[in-house]
Amino acid sequence: MTVTFLDLRRQHRALRAELDGALAEVLDGDRFIGGARVEAFEREFAGFCGAREAVGVASGTDAIELALRAHGIGAGDEVITVANTCVPTVAGIEAAGATPVLVDVDERTYTLDPHELADATTARTKAIVPVHLYGQCADVESISAHAREHGLVVVEDAAQAHGAARDGRRAGSLGDAASFSFYPTKNLGALGDGGAIVTDDPEVAARARELRSFGERGRGEAVRKGTNSRLDPLQAALLSVKLGRLDEWNERRREIAQRYRLALHDTVTVPEESPGAYHVYHLFVIRFPRRDELARGLDERGIGTLVHYPRAVHQHPAYAHLARPGRLTRSERLAAEVLSLPLYPELSEHEAVRVVGATLGACGA
Ligand SMILES: Cc1ncc(COP(=O)(O)O)c(C=O)c1O
Repeated sequence: MTVTFLDLRRQHRALRAELDGALAEVLDGDRFIGGARVEAFEREFAGFCGAREAVGVASGTDAIELALRAHGIGAGDEVITVANTCVPTVAGIEAAGATPVLVDVDERTYTLDPHELADATTARTKAIVPVHLYGQCADVESISAHAREHGLVVVEDAAQAHGAARDGRRAGSLGDAASFSFYPTKNLGALGDGGAIVTDDPEVAARARELRSFGERGRGEAVRKGTNSRLDPLQAALLSVKLGRLDEWNERRREIAQRYRLALHDTVTVPEESPGAYHVYHLFVIRFPRRDELARGLDERGIGTLVHYPRAVHQHPAYAHLARPGRLTRSERLAAEVLSLPLYPELSEHEAVRVVGATLGACGA
């Protein structure tokens, strides 16, 4: 029996009638950009995050760009983020016109180490983009304390953290604004691209609404230079259906994660949950010094794995200029040792048992 890394067909099979209904409602209507369907999802998603406003956009990358631009951040400004994230985090910062500055992560949680901020902050620093990597919120309290001291904006990159929380407050309500992705494989995924900016600040939300639609306020008057980055009613309708299941799905992810953690902690480094964290396990990522060997062993046993991410940002040729020699060593080590095991809500008990057995077997335990 093989266990694939992810099988979205199972989620869609279970929701088929409701997704068909949502699709039919859009098809029978006459609004295919913007309108009540998008606004309804925006309200629902803001409510889910515990924030006042959500602004649907075309992707998580755009959400980072437009959240920064809605705060007036752009050319000449520096934005601090982590080295162990995927390329879109820095692509969004650069799309805003700003310069990313990479810092290292806490080796236990894999999220931004607040102790690294002082050294990376300059007179040009305007924002910090902590990434809630793998489904666990970064230490936003400490990050925000530094931000307040230096007058910086905090934009959470919550692309992997729909429903994650810290001390009862959800991702999306922890910083000045947050960016979410609805890429199909995310905990809340569309059937195509999509994203959202979430904030408590109505002025930031209003600017983001202008920016996503050619800078127009109302119809026909561009008050700033914007772009075309919209979440369409079809994706919004499908996302509303899925949002109703998200809490249940996240609970199931956590159940499987606890099983993996208990069974594997003597053999590999398992994810650590920070005190007060509600980790939603977008990915279940283990560490093992002979990572590639382990991935091969799991492949031979029929278990699909992936690496998130095989390179720290500055190890990509396109971003080599962002290297800070000697300062990003933990991110570099993680890139060499992390491995993601199959974990998604529809994974069966039997499959979870297979993943554990195969991992122990491949490690020679
Ligand atoms: C941490 C992180 N940031 C940003 C993004 C960008 O999202 P999108 O693919 O919707 O542009 C992703 C997902 O791809 C992500 O995982």
